[in-house]
Amino acid sequence: MTRTDLKKPTQKKSRNYKAGLAQLNFKIEFDWSHEEARKLYETSIHKIEKNTILYQDCISGMKNLPEESVDLIIADPPFGINFSGKGSQYNRNSILVEDGYVEIKEDYDKFTEKWIQCLPRIMKKTASAYIFSGWTNLNDLLNAINKTDLKLVNHIIWKYQFGVFTKRKFVSSHYHILFLVKNEKKYFFNKYEYYPEDVWIIPRRYLPGQRKNGTKLPEDVVNKCINFSSKPGDLIFDPFMGNATTAICAKGLYRHYYGFEINQTMKEIHQNYINNIKVGQFFRPLKEYLPSKEELLKKYPHLKKYVNEIKKYSGKKTRLDRYFE
Ligand SMILES: C[S@@+](CC[C@H](N)C(=O)[O-])C[C@H]1O[C@@H](n2cnc3c(N)ncnc32)[C@H](O)[C@@H]1O
Repeated sequence: MTRTDLKKPTQKKSRNYKAGLAQLNFKIEFDWSHEEARKLYETSIHKIEKNTILYQDCISGMKNLPEESVDLIIADPPFGINFSGKGSQYNRNSILVEDGYVEIKEDYDKFTEKWIQCLPRIMKKTASAYIFSGWTNLNDLLNAINKTDLKLVNHIIWKYQFGVFTKRKFVSSHYHILFLVKNEKKYFFNKYEYYPEDVWIIPRRYLPGQRKNGTKLPEDVVNKCINFSSKPGDLIFDPFMGNATTAICAKGLYRHYYGFEINQTMKEIHQNYINNIKVGQFFRPLKEYLPSKEELLKKYPHLKKYVNEIKKYSGKKTRLDRYFE
């Protein structure tokens, strides 16, 4: 190699590149006002009874659902470690934790295969699934997924702020979320962040004084899955309702829900939780999640001279029809 070789630039720098400009121009493909979202919620038609939770085993239950009937699946299966959520390390008043959190009695890998196998048939071509797992069950989940035609699009890490105290190992403070689709070319994905990363830092909430099932996902995590992967009026399915977080979030975001929970004692608690939520109460047009023009200009002051060129958000929906097959 000669000295001149070393001096040659390997890549030409683009003169037009301006840090932050693309973000300033970023537009969300699909967005809805409250009125539009409510109308879709009220007029959407589904193959299965909307807004229903059946208190039975999800594996036999899913076999009775019609083909291609759900738009999105959120699944947070039982852990398989005889978890009751009552141990002192969880720092909870055990009277408030319901007895009926149902653990699985067979081998975890066989149970996982059985319920995962039921998913592709009930998913529409445009549908996605978000499956939650601690690291100890991840192997069984990935093996079960590999035996189906589902495609793994992202392996998301959800980082939360506290884990169970340990003495001789690291505190586990993350969860895995597998983002799967039925059809890589057709799945619905509404990118409403400019740079959506696969590490989500979202705290768990303490729920002092509330009756609850052994575990509960934060609504912010479930809302994020719903906002990225469904439209108002869609049907969100959860095979393991637990504390009905999916139902609560779906109703709060103008979506419908359907699901199973084997623990009969949760029925009354679910009804209270869900009745307390108003249709659309969590909904915001997605443009409101973006940083404001002022915030971006503070971060990228050199963009001030471009600001007049920025096209205003039009709220116009494009190419949406292909998702209403
Ligand atoms: C990890 S929790 C779900 C928590 C839920 N995502 C939430 O945010 O509240 C798992 C739930 O699955 C239920 N379960 C266990 N086996 C089941 C089965 N075969 N069919 C339906 N539900 C089941 C358990 O009783 C428990 O409530």
